[in-house]
Amino acid sequence: MSDIPLVLQVGALLPTLADSLRTEFHAERLPDEPVERAAWLAGNAGRVAVAVTTYNTGVGPDLMAALPNLRAVLIFGVGYDSTDTAQARERGITIATTPGVLTDAVADLAVGLLIDTLRGVSRADRFVRAGRWAAGETFPLTREVSGSTVGILGLGRIGRAIADRLAGFGCAIAYHSRTAVDGVPYPYAATPVELAAASDVLVVVVPGGPATEKLVDDDVLAALGPEGYLVNVARGSVVDQEALVRRLASGELAGAGLDVFADEPHVPAELLALDTVVLQPHVASATEQTRQAMADLLLENLRTFLATGTVLTPVP
Ligand code: DGY
Repeated sequence: MSDIPLVLQVGALLPTLADSLRTEFHAERLPDEPVERAAWLAGNAGRVAVAVTTYNTGVGPDLMAALPNLRAVLIFGVGYDSTDTAQARERGITIATTPGVLTDAVADLAVGLLIDTLRGVSRADRFVRAGRWAAGETFPLTREVSGSTVGILGLGRIGRAIADRLAGFGCAIAYHSRTAVDGVPYPYAATPVELAAASDVLVVVVPGGPATEKLVDDDVLAALGPEGYLVNVARGSVVDQEALVRRLASGELAGAGLDVFADEPHVPAELLALDTVVLQPHVASATEQTRQAMADLLLENLRTFLATGTVLTPVP
C-alpha cells in the first residue's frame, strides 16, 4: 500500500475528465459493484484524500464514514444534495462544486422547456410525425409566452439568468427566495404560494436537499391553478410529485416542463401518458461546451487543493 494521498473517482464521469484524473493524478476508480467495492475499501480506504464525483452520485454518509482521511469532495455540477454535507462540515472536509460555468446552459434549457411546454413544440412535432396534419387535423391553439407572468422560485445565479432571458420576451417576472435579493428589478413574493398565485408559469430553481423538500407542495400547485404551468430544472425532491401528477392528470394544472424527477431515472407512467408534459432526462447543463467547462473547473479545484489545501469554488 502506498502512502501517497489518493484521488478517488466515485461513479461515472465525463470520459475526458476521468482520463485527466487517471493520467495527471493517478486517480483510481471505486468499484460500483458492492462486493468489489467493499473489498477495495478494506484495502485502500485510508489512502483516499480526495473524492471526485458528480451532482447525482455524490459521497453519501456511509461512503464518507468509510474514508477516514478524506479531506475534499469535488463535485462535477452545482447540486450537492447527494453528498453528506453535515458529516463533511463536522469533519472539516472541503466540498467544491462547479458554479458559474453552467449558468447559461441551465438557463437556456429552462427557457426552452418553458416555451415547449406553453407552445406545445414537442407535442406539435409528434402531431406532424403521426401524419395527423397531413390527414387534415388542426393542431390546438396554445399559450402565448411573450407577456406571460413568470414566477422564479430561487433567484440565485441560474434563477437570475432565467429571469433576465424571459424579461427579454416581455414577461412580467416575480420571485421568491429565502430572503429578498438586493438590487434586482423584480418584485419579491413573501411565500411560494403567493408567488404561484401571481404567476402563469412557476419556474423552480432552488437547490435540492432537506431545506427545500416538497417546497412546491399541493398548496403551491393549487395556487398556480388550472391555467398554470410548472417548469422544474432544480431537483425532483423540491416538488410533491404525487400531487403534481394528480393535478396534471385531472386538468387542475395546465402543463409542466420537467428536467428532474423524484426517483431518477424513473418517470411515473402517468406523466409519460400526458401530452401536456414535456420530459427531459436531467440534461439542463448537458452541452459539450458546458460539460467541458465544468470538467476544467473541477480539475482546477483539484490542482489548487493538492497545492494549497483550498479550492476555488467551495460550498459555503
Ligand atoms: C447540477 O449540476 O446539479 C445540475 O442538476 C446539472 O444539470
